[in-house]
Amino acid sequence: MIDNKKVLFSGMQATGNLTLGNYLGALKNWVTLHDEYECFYSVVDMHSITVRQDPAVLRKRARALLTLYIAAGLDPEKNCIYYQSHVSGHAELAWILNCFTYMGELSRMTQFKDKAAKHADNINAGLFTYPVLMAADILLYQTDVVPVGIDQMQHLEITRDIAQRFNGIYGDVFTIPEAYIGKTGAKIMSLQDPTKKMSKSDENVNASIYLMDDPDAIRRKCKRAVTDSLGEIRYSDEQPGVKNLISIYSACLNKTPEEVEREFAGRGYGEFKEAVGEAVVSVLEPLQKRVHELEKDKSYIDGIIKNNAEKATYYAQKTLRKVQRKIGFPDRIR
Ligand code: TYM
Repeated sequence: MIDNKKVLFSGMQATGNLTLGNYLGALKNWVTLHDEYECFYSVVDMHSITVRQDPAVLRKRARALLTLYIAAGLDPEKNCIYYQSHVSGHAELAWILNCFTYMGELSRMTQFKDKAAKHADNINAGLFTYPVLMAADILLYQTDVVPVGIDQMQHLEITRDIAQRFNGIYGDVFTIPEAYIGKTGAKIMSLQDPTKKMSKSDENVNASIYLMDDPDAIRRKCKRAVTDSLGEIRYSDEQPGVKNLISIYSACLNKTPEEVEREFAGRGYGEFKEAVGEAVVSVLEPLQKRVHELEKDKSYIDGIIKNNAEKATYYAQKTLRKVQRKIGFPDRIR
């Protein structure tokens, strides 16, 4: 608890171009939460280097992501928005938690298996212990809730396991976090293969809508989205392509899937896909405009980066000192 509010933490990687999945599954759900929770949102640049990065590109993308957080509506006065690499407590706690995490449980992580297969030439130890750094991110702030898309659930489960294991040995050191999954958009699928999640790293550019895609590209990608031959607009697992488009449309316009089914009953796929394209444009166009405006205000963004890193460091240090004392590291001499 901070000032009688529960604590919320989430983060995104500054790798690749963010997709509509990242926005609808995560960012969009974050902007209304600060009244209820003390919120920390990190640009997790330390996670990004588990895959080789061009330094200049990483720096640029990290800043673009931080700007996007604000453009999407996260008020930096009410939400702590910061770079993970600016708060050294993340790395320090990750090391400690590494010693409380088993090789067996890490090797069961599906994201590790997927990434190891994709980057067979660089299966580094960081890729393997990635979930431990994620656990450190979350536990460092005594987090109660973690808003994420469904793909991150396994990492949240291991975070809870690590925290419970640690608490079992040392007493109630960590708050045990809960996942917070949005009602709509929790899993946006590829437009070209609706059995796979929409992903930044998809090689087929038509599979994902990127947040900075121009309106024509968005409309074109929606038009080309894979559907089926049933000809009915139903939110059903038998029609994964149509179901995904309904998810996108309903998340963009804050409607329920049932409302969308009723709205398009008896209408054709062509017309529906066009409407989906317009719905996405209506959300992303204003977002892109705000990003471009904010990018011009360098000193404003710099101020946020500095102040929020200090705020995050303050809370991170509180937990870290407690953990260090519990495990027997010598006290500091003041
Ligand atoms: P990342 O950067 O892959 O994704 C950021 C957020 O976007 C969600 N997401 C999706 N939601 C719906 N449909 C999709 N197709 C889709 N693709 C991505 C993800 O679930 C996530 O919420 N390891 C994390 C970042 C991280 C983190 C943390 C998150 C590091 N530390 C602590 C929460 C708490 C990741 O790589 O997310």
